Amino acid sequence: MSNGSTTPAQHAAAATTIKPADLRGILKYVPRFKDQIFVIALDGSIVADENFGNLLVDIAVLRSLAIKVILVHGIGQQIQQLSAIRSIPITDAIGTGVTDAATLDLAIRASSRVSHIILEGLTQNALKCAITNAVRAVPLGILRGVDHQFTGKVDRIDTEFITTLIDKNITPIVSPIGFGPDGGALRINSDLLAAELAEALHATKIIYAAPSSGLTINGEVRREISADALRALLKEQPAAIPESERSKAAHALKAIETGTPRVHLIDGRTFDSLLNEIFSSEGVGTLIYGNDYQQIRRARRSDVRAIHNLTRGGVRRAELLHRTQQAIEKNIDQFYVYEIDESLIACISLASYPENPDILELGSLYVLPFYQNRGIGRRMVDYICMLAKDRGARTLVALSTQSYSFFTSTMGFEEADKKLLPASRLKLYEESGRNAKVLVKQL
Ligand SMILES: CC(C)(COP(=O)(O)OP(=O)(O)OC[C@H]1O[C@@H](n2cnc3c(N)ncnc32)[C@H](O)[C@@H]1OP(=O)(O)O)[C@@H](O)C(=O)NCCC(=O)NCCS
Repeated sequence: MSNGSTTPAQHAAAATTIKPADLRGILKYVPRFKDQIFVIALDGSIVADENFGNLLVDIAVLRSLAIKVILVHGIGQQIQQLSAIRSIPITDAIGTGVTDAATLDLAIRASSRVSHIILEGLTQNALKCAITNAVRAVPLGILRGVDHQFTGKVDRIDTEFITTLIDKNITPIVSPIGFGPDGGALRINSDLLAAELAEALHATKIIYAAPSSGLTINGEVRREISADALRALLKEQPAAIPESERSKAAHALKAIETGTPRVHLIDGRTFDSLLNEIFSSEGVGTLIYGNDYQQIRRARRSDVRAIHNLTRGGVRRAELLHRTQQAIEKNIDQFYVYEIDESLIACISLASYPENPDILELGSLYVLPFYQNRGIGRRMVDYICMLAKDRGARTLVALSTQSYSFFTSTMGFEEADKKLLPASRLKLYEESGRNAKVLVKQL
């Protein structure tokens, strides 16, 4: 591997020297990543780097493997250069401080230039792309007495617009300029933008390509760190991380807390860093990963109404058995909830049968439709399996009328005879008339 720049032709030649064993290594990732969304956030300085052409070839490789890519870019370096060339002082370079009118004007110019360079690069790689206006913003407002003027925060992302582009094989380019309620421009920090896009689009990964080898902690680049450890570090010892990397660390954490499972920090100046990070088990940058279960907690009495409201949609479609608020309250100890930003977005329950401690029953599994198909149901069931095992059960039972294939195909349950149910439960089963499939998993 070299750090120098290569032409696309040289890169392609290098690709043809991949050994069959390497190829097999890469191919094993293909079904796993197919159709997943990756948000790639490019620092302004990376777009200006001589390796940028190589990075775009890597992005073209991801697209050819049916990975859906959204590109977000920063403008930090370009706005500083424009400011120097035109002798116009700027109030902030990264989109978190105050943006006055002159700074906004330079930000728009810098952003158009950077978006255009990306357009050119993707065109050279025969990729269709489009610069979008999918980010609606509102002014950040007055914080601690300081009016941030034209600095914005994300209000809403037009996900339908972006997914329509992706579905048509068009790579969306999202610039760090959002559009306010009156259509006027607002400057948004690109690290934040990447995290917001990943949340709204249910991305599997964010990849921040920056001019550093990864996340540096106490002077050393860490290859991986859990979100829990990073949160503790940012709270207790923020100076352990260089200031230039702190924004990415904080936004990576935000992304994980709002449901994006993994965030990578790669060196955008290094040849092959993107493909190496994704397709080798060790990686070359820094991987920040969430604790799969950190958003799951035991339900409290104060959650009763929220659980009732949450499951109402499922009850309406007869996916779930109707339970009154009183019934949920009476059994609140059996419920577990999944929380994002202090809102409950999924629930599950674990019940026992007095006559048979070997068998526990999983029930009331419901994931809000907006959050479905991003691994939350799987995590909830895995968590309940772990709890059931801890409690010494041997068998976990689930009754399902419409989602039984989720349990059998995704979660490793098998269909079983209803006679397996303890007598008291069998009686309730017969009385309900739902004729649900009985599914079991041996723990
Ligand atoms: C069933 C349910 C809990 C799954 O949760 P989820 O968070 O969407 O699922 P995950 O993202 O963890 O799992 C995704 C996998 O399960 C599959 N899956 C999701 N819902 C499914 C369903 N209803 N039937 C069959 N398979 C399903 C997906 O195709 C995906 O498979 P893949 O990994 O091979 O691509 C959720 O869709 C739901 O709440 N449905 C309505 C309520 C319900 O039916 N509850 C079960 C009552 S016991």
